[in-house]
Amino acid sequence: MTTESHPGLRERAAAALAAARARTAALTDAVTDQDLTAQHSPLMSPLVWDLAHIGNQEELWLLGRVAGRESMHPEINPLYDAFEHPRSERPKLPLLGPAEARRYAAEVRGRVFDLLERTPLEGSALLDDGFAFGMIAQHEQQHDETMLITHQLRRGEPVLTAPEPDAPYEAPLVAEVLVPGGPFTMGTSAEPWSLDNERPAHTRDTAPFWIDTVPVTNAAYQAFIADGGYREPRWWAAPGWAQIREHGIGAPLFWRREGGQWLRRRFGVTEPVPDDEPVLHVSWYEADAYARWAGRRLPTEAEWEKAARHDPATGRSRRYPWGDADPDPVHANLGQRHLRPARAGSYPAGASPLGVRQLIGDVWEWTASDFLPYPGFRAFPYREYSEVFFGPEHKVLRGGSFAVDPVACRGTFRNWDLPVRRQIFSGFRTARDV
Ligand code: AVJ
Ligand code: FE
Repeated sequence: MTTESHPGLRERAAAALAAARARTAALTDAVTDQDLTAQHSPLMSPLVWDLAHIGNQEELWLLGRVAGRESMHPEINPLYDAFEHPRSERPKLPLLGPAEARRYAAEVRGRVFDLLERTPLEGSALLDDGFAFGMIAQHEQQHDETMLITHQLRRGEPVLTAPEPDAPYEAPLVAEVLVPGGPFTMGTSAEPWSLDNERPAHTRDTAPFWIDTVPVTNAAYQAFIADGGYREPRWWAAPGWAQIREHGIGAPLFWRREGGQWLRRRFGVTEPVPDDEPVLHVSWYEADAYARWAGRRLPTEAEWEKAARHDPATGRSRRYPWGDADPDPVHANLGQRHLRPARAGSYPAGASPLGVRQLIGDVWEWTASDFLPYPGFRAFPYREYSEVFFGPEHKVLRGGSFAVDPVACRGTFRNWDLPVRRQIFSGFRTARDV
């Protein structure tokens, strides 16, 4: 595909970059300089690291690889290389301060906008369809979600606000949906800004299976807790049992029991856990244990994608559950418009052809699957985006959360993390064999 077949591509890339930067600014301007440089959790970088890393990746890829320019400050590049320093050690590095980091990211961005105006968006794999610009906009949005996780871990007064979800709602008529067996197309070779691990499109077969209409709710999860789910080793994979014993875990992260009810801390506010909202901040082990207790299992990644994209009437896979149109607020809770998931049963207009709801947005959904390459995978543009993470130690999450921007979320988008992680905006739904 060329620029000519994609009118407005340059404007789309510029708008995606500008939207990401507005979100970055909102997340970093909300706190003091001291908060920007503090370590809010050993699991996370200081916010000021994310800020300069965003600028540094943009400089390396767009000004370096695309435009062939020399590094502006070669000495800082190793500081912002995620593979050089683990997150827990980043606060001790001689990082750019808040003002310097902001200035650096802004200077890079100014040069990138100049480049975007004059560079052809074709002629190489990086430039075709503006891929490198789309990749960098997605990268910044991914770090914006990471920074939102840091905000959630941060102690102290609330600093972020957003309207409550006002999502369209219709009580689901059925608790689960039957997905027919047979082949479907998984992954994509067409989506211009898809990342390497989503490619190529290929045929997958699944047996027929049942899948939950909506994600597992806090009420359902509380029934698991009340039934002694965290005290029964038979529900748990061995490393998950070891984790909950070692750390005394008995509920999702950020939950606490008080006066006979469950409370949670959400962006600095303590509130009762709402029954009808999808459960959030559970590990893969917690999701897996719940599913076993419920006599069910997690869907595989292929099952999740089939439930989300397969249209049995045409045999085609859609870009999104609702069709090929870009996400809109009637379809899904995305883009940090709200600081929480919408209640289960929301967004009927976002349902898949088979009637599965809330696959996109609200909560990332753990799947049963390890993060592995698709047949025909080729690392692009760098091995460190996906390839070095392939293997049994990472589990796949699908669908995006309320904190994911639409530019970084598609029916084919794949996220991954360690199965012990629970600070991420993770939930799940369950499935069963026919
Ligand atoms: C795809 C969310 C797992 O944050 O580690 C950011 C995205 N890669 N910078 C991550 C990413 C490089 C990645 N995840
Ligand atoms: Fe990064």
